[in-house]
Amino acid sequence: DLIFIWFLLALFADSKTNRRFKDMALTEQDFKNLPETGIDPDNSGKYQALLDDLQGNILKGHGRDYTVDIFVQWKSDDIPAVKEWIINFTKGYVTSAQLQADESRRYRDQKVSGSVFANFYLTRIGYETLGFEAFQIPKNQPFTMGMQYEGIRTSLGDPKVTDWEVGYQQKIHSLIAIADDDQDSLLKFANQITQELSKIATVLHQENGFILRNKDGQVIEHFGFVDGISQPLFIKRDIVKAQASDRNFSKWDPRAPLDLVLVKDPNGQTEDSYGSYLVYRKLEQNVKAFREDQQALAQALKIQNELAGAYVMGRFPDGTPVTISDVPMHPRNPPNNFNYDQDLTATKCPFHAHIRKTNPRGDSVRNSNVNLEEERGHRIARRAVSYGEKDLTNASTEGSGLLFLCFQADIENQFNFMQARWSNANNFVKVGVGPDPLIGSPQGTQHWPTEWSKSSTQDYNFKLWVKMKGGEYFFAPSISSLKNL
Ligand code: HEM
Repeated sequence: DLIFIWFLLALFADSKTNRRFKDMALTEQDFKNLPETGIDPDNSGKYQALLDDLQGNILKGHGRDYTVDIFVQWKSDDIPAVKEWIINFTKGYVTSAQLQADESRRYRDQKVSGSVFANFYLTRIGYETLGFEAFQIPKNQPFTMGMQYEGIRTSLGDPKVTDWEVGYQQKIHSLIAIADDDQDSLLKFANQITQELSKIATVLHQENGFILRNKDGQVIEHFGFVDGISQPLFIKRDIVKAQASDRNFSKWDPRAPLDLVLVKDPNGQTEDSYGSYLVYRKLEQNVKAFREDQQALAQALKIQNELAGAYVMGRFPDGTPVTISDVPMHPRNPPNNFNYDQDLTATKCPFHAHIRKTNPRGDSVRNSNVNLEEERGHRIARRAVSYGEKDLTNASTEGSGLLFLCFQADIENQFNFMQARWSNANNFVKVGVGPDPLIGSPQGTQHWPTEWSKSSTQDYNFKLWVKMKGGEYFFAPSISSLKNL
């Protein structure tokens, strides 16, 4: 009898938990409107289930110093063994958004370093190889087609696939991405994974990435500019910090709703199982040629070299936006609370500048039927790291650059739109402004201010010193879907 009563009680408790769980499932509104101060993983409330089942690095970068990305093709003759490996890898290593936050809190409070950080991604072909039916595979169009698809390749302005690095010319099924602050143990772990995989997969390619820093410890990229300043923010800590330094977001609000990056995972096992699309591109930077071109531009315009660089990027190397100042202001926290309202004719920051093209901050709304919300909907969560040469005094011509990663909910409307319709386009806000000199495929001519804040300009075609070496579109499945393959 006692056992029977216990059984009834357990049943009752279970149905109650389930009901509570159901009550807590997030609504569409929770995705369209973020709470004012974002999600607080220290007090996750109704976002708990989501953060537990979502892979880390999407809502906030993992911040580890070293990364290894392993691109694989599964062998189709023993799929049960492949699935078993993925399940075990997920259970053992894949880091949830919640664990990521818990570990960084432990680091802040007790200086205890986090464990190795791991993500697991699938391509459309990867899903098919694992035996998923069409209706179970995430449906975003570029993800379905793949980055090698001719129509996509040409609209992005990418080189022919036969010119990509060999590893990216194959059909990639999965990306296993690991990261740690200790490079030796990370490389050992990568070797262990590669060995384990040898029976069930072909390892196509491996990328080793790292965070580059300037002497002040700020994250930079190979051309020497501080990077990762302007990001869509979802997490309370990030928002509170940005709010304090950026005077309450009076000119630019970096907060973003969850539906900017998250989509429902069709195979998730909970009501709040979400995933995100990852764009991965290896972008080689010719540092020597970039610097020479910058110098030649400065000479042509008869301006300081640093200002010429700022006209390319939209910010000085130290992060000072050139729409605010014609000299670097050496800010401790590079400002992000600005827009181009005081620079409507682009006499301070040219329309073509990298950060103006990739985030027009209202520019594309003027004289058009686009509203600000729509424009802000093209934003992406950038999670790039550098690769190649670590010593910046060696200005390399090849073999160094950016492993460009970004998350979004809709690749066509976000990364692809940004690259094809903004960076590459000759017409942007206005007819004939020329391509983004940093990453836009050459079409048209750029017009450069000969004097900051004055209307005279001079034409100069800045050459493209960033070369796409290969890439692919991935999906970051929910953790429960990976455990339940
Ligand atoms: C911002 C460098 C490729 C999108 C920046 C910044 C730098 C930079 C230095 C300014 C720092 C910041 O605001 O965070 C590079 C380099 C690239 C590269 C060296 C290639 C090697 C790309 C690509 C895209 C992109 C391919 C997307 C198509 C953005 C966006 C911002 C940004 C959205 C923030 C703009 C803002 O909100 O003001 N990039 N970038 N970048 N970049 Fe790139």
